[in-house]
Amino acid sequence: MTSPAPPEGPPEAPPEEPPAPPPLVLVRFEPSGREVRIALGATLLGAARAAGLTVANACGASGVCGKCGMVILDGHASLADPTPWEVRVKAMNRVAKPVRLACLVHLRGDLVATTDYW
Ligand code: FES
Repeated sequence: MTSPAPPEGPPEAPPEEPPAPPPLVLVRFEPSGREVRIALGATLLGAARAAGLTVANACGASGVCGKCGMVILDGHASLADPTPWEVRVKAMNRVAKPVRLACLVHLRGDLVATTDYW
């Protein structure tokens, strides 16, 4: 009886593991209390849409109309300060200083937000 021939060439590399899913953040919208878990780095506008909420916008979320303003009720510490562009768009559209433009806010932690027409 003969043994099988040894394999030729280098051993096969172990299979690659699939990439880990992105971390999620929890966003709650008031006064409805709707919540959504969404990938870290998503926009606040995207989170509202994922929660099934309509958000005013006239620029297709390109950050120029100033219509998507939201008030952050909790979680300010997780947000980056407004960029010079957001500050400029808010000034051009007479958006109150504490309001954030949801299409320009990228989520970095859990937060609670609202707007005056919900
Ligand atoms: S949707 Fe127009 S600035 Fe955000």
